[in-house]
Amino acid sequence: MKELKIFGIVAIFTLVLYWGVEPFAHSQMHKHVEGHGLVYDGTADIEETSKDKKAMKKAFWADVKKIAALKGDAKAGEATFAMCAGCHMDGAVNMGGVTPPSLEHAGAIYDKNFLIALIKDPAIATNVDHKYPNGTMAHPMGSISTMVTAPQDIANVVAYLKAKKAGEVTPKEAFTEACGRCHANRYGKLTQLGEIPKTKSNIKTGLDIDAMKYKEKVATEQAALADYLGTLPPDLSIMIRARSEHFLHTFIENPQSTLPGTAMPRTGLNKEGMEKVFAYLEKTGDPSKPLREETGPKVLLFFLIFTALAFLWKKSMWKGHH
Ligand code: HEC
Ligand code: HEC
Repeated sequence: MKELKIFGIVAIFTLVLYWGVEPFAHSQMHKHVEGHGLVYDGTADIEETSKDKKAMKKAFWADVKKIAALKGDAKAGEATFAMCAGCHMDGAVNMGGVTPPSLEHAGAIYDKNFLIALIKDPAIATNVDHKYPNGTMAHPMGSISTMVTAPQDIANVVAYLKAKKAGEVTPKEAFTEACGRCHANRYGKLTQLGEIPKTKSNIKTGLDIDAMKYKEKVATEQAALADYLGTLPPDLSIMIRARSEHFLHTFIENPQSTLPGTAMPRTGLNKEGMEKVFAYLEKTGDPSKPLREETGPKVLLFFLIFTALAFLWKKSMWKGHH
């Protein structure tokens, strides 16, 4: 009887710790951040203190909404897209600290309102305008907001992206286009310059000169990124294991809400873009997951059968002893 009481007390304490104290401590240590449902309308923007800036932001997002309501002409947008392609081309090189990404699936992975905002003002769209107090031109894509200004032109080029740059996108492509210019993924064999090329050692010297040259190029790119962002963005190979899914979702949707002042831009992913990026993070961070998911139920079934057999065996052993 005494043992039972002690057991009861221990059990109650354990349960209180498990359900009460631990989650409470967790919620105190990590501020809970709500997502915004992948809606880009300014509600997640950094809180402005000055009245003028507040009014400017309000007008900015109201304009975005108006442009979104226009009917875009994809064909007319193709000509405007040539201006984008001047920077976003195959073999693009680092400009102002970062290499313009491929836009091959931009229409599939980015939200429409975000794209409109991005062309109007890339710093505000990506929620890092606090880095550019003297205007948006200092942003490496800033000049676009002086090149494409008419609302109808913006609507047209976004219509072009949504029509012609929205094909089937693989998880790896989504990651490379949306994150890869800043984040390496070692397990996915990706650097900020793309896929690591296959190289060979020279038979006589044992040296792989091409691999060394490539490493040097990556180091130069990373140094430029670190200058631009104040820090080298972390490798994302196993980030999915280090952070909760909720954290990753809200952080990627709007980095400022989780890490105020961070240099990581809002990337403007839509639902498909977010799902594909996550699929890639899961694949590199947990390559054995599919196998585990397949084996899990089998192991459970084994234990069930084993328990049943053990029970029957015990029963038969004890028969006659009572
Ligand atoms: C002057 C060069 C330049 C021009 C012109 C330009 N871009 Fe960019 N773009 C960049 C750079 C550089 C980045 C990366 C910025 C960063 O990561 O901070 C970028 C990023 C982007 C991104 C990724 C945004 C994100 O963070 O998710 C998209 C989408 C994009 N540009 C679309 C366009 C479109 C559409 C046009 C034409 C209307 C265009 N760009 C014109 C240089 C340019
Ligand atoms: C223009 C560069 C840039 C792009 C593009 C970018 N990031 Fe980042 N990211 C950063 C920087 C810089 C940091 C470091 C943030 C800090 O410490 O303030 C970071 C940090 C992170 C972190 C770590 C957060 C933590 O808790 O430490 C994750 C996760 C992340 N990024 C995911 C992504 C994903 C996923 C994408 C693509 C959808 C992406 N990033 C696109 C620059 C970028």
